[in-house]
Amino acid sequence: MIYDIGVVGLGVMGTNIAKNMSRNGFKVVTFDFFEDVRENRMTELKEENVDIASSLENFIESLKKPRNILLLVKAGEVTDKTIEQIAPYLGEGDTLIDGGNEQYENTRRRNMQLTEKGINFIGMGVSGGEEGALNGPSLMPGGQRKAYDNVSGILEKIAAKADDGKPCVTYIGEDGSGHYVKMIHNGIEYADMELIAESYYFMKHGLNMSNDEMSAVFDEWNQGDLNSYLIEITARILEFKDDAGNYIIDLILDKAGQKGTGKWTGIEGLKLGIPLSLITDSVFVRCLSSLVEERALISEAYQSEMNSLSPEQKDSVLEDLKNALYISKLMSYSQGFRLLREASEIYNWNLQLGEISMIWRKGCIIRAQFLEEINRAYENDPALTNLLLDDYFRNVVKSSHPSLRRIGVLAIENEIPMPAFLSALSYFDSMKQERVSSNMIQAQRDYFGAHTYERLDKPGVFHTEWQ
Ligand code: 6PG
Repeated sequence: MIYDIGVVGLGVMGTNIAKNMSRNGFKVVTFDFFEDVRENRMTELKEENVDIASSLENFIESLKKPRNILLLVKAGEVTDKTIEQIAPYLGEGDTLIDGGNEQYENTRRRNMQLTEKGINFIGMGVSGGEEGALNGPSLMPGGQRKAYDNVSGILEKIAAKADDGKPCVTYIGEDGSGHYVKMIHNGIEYADMELIAESYYFMKHGLNMSNDEMSAVFDEWNQGDLNSYLIEITARILEFKDDAGNYIIDLILDKAGQKGTGKWTGIEGLKLGIPLSLITDSVFVRCLSSLVEERALISEAYQSEMNSLSPEQKDSVLEDLKNALYISKLMSYSQGFRLLREASEIYNWNLQLGEISMIWRKGCIIRAQFLEEINRAYENDPALTNLLLDDYFRNVVKSSHPSLRRIGVLAIENEIPMPAFLSALSYFDSMKQERVSSNMIQAQRDYFGAHTYERLDKPGVFHTEWQ
């Protein structure tokens, strides 16, 4: 049999994507370097008409030319090793696609190295977890355009479909751009999750709400502007009980894990000099949450005096919280897309920001209807520097920032930690000042280090003998 595509790596993601391809009518052959893994998957994949090759040679030989091979193996060294083993069998025009959560610099390097051998290399962000892989993920492929065109038929079929029927996949750009866009997706995912977690904490401690009440509020929010997968699963999590009738959420240790993509996004913001405070704060909150013992000692030393609000305030505060959450989310997306714009210029990727927002409408973790507003903003003005300058964003932020301010004040007065909300407010308040406080920074730099400064009243570079 000659196969349309091959998948290497039979972990859950590889297995599910292979099934997805087969269910969409493609002939798929798979391979894993570990024999026991191949054996374990045998029955399950056979039922789905997916074959498993018994050797790498058989796997390669059975593929239609030019060959398309999707790798779903661990990022980093394992991916390098896998490529090392497969590349010698490939020739001019063949394409390797890396579907892992890889750092874009690695993807750029591999793309360059393989291009020298005539082999195409696509780094493809895949979002949506195990379920998405099986039923339709959001796909962010970057690499040689011609290589993308060879596989676009398969990718469009297996990708999630938005409500208008459009597949959640598009060609992102050259070399590492696909993995870069996936990295930003994950950074935004971190901030979305943090803002939701802070809303939950505020409702629980500030408003004394029960899990079922909070679940109902998130369900209600999910009907409006905040409609999204993450809000929906939050409602489901809050109402979920174990067999003994206990709410699982109350039993989960408050120590957040992270695999690194949020951190990479933060580092990239620092590298390119673009404010990314909501994402970086969200990463740091995960770090802070992990200092469990230290927090216990400090909470003992200072005794938290977190207060709850009076019940009469509840309805109006909940309305404020909803609005505050929405515009904080908008601040976070403005920062994320601003970084994408910068990266597009610096790395020469010509990223289509509107299209990127459209492929995040379904399949991925940050899927949400409001992403269409971002597309519309870039369609209206493809050169838009910051989403806060778009009419829709401006109207929402103008009418809702008093809500964010009120929530911020309540959080501060009542000792309820809400770092991401406060970060959103600080970003907004700073960005809307034509002049910020950095004249003082410049003066200090010049005072102690003769670093010079520019002036408002005349051009040039100046230094003052301060002492
Ligand atoms: C996705 C997710 C996924 C991510 C995990 C966990 O888009 O499907 O972003 O790629 O790896 O959800 O990431 P953390 O462990 O860093 O939270």
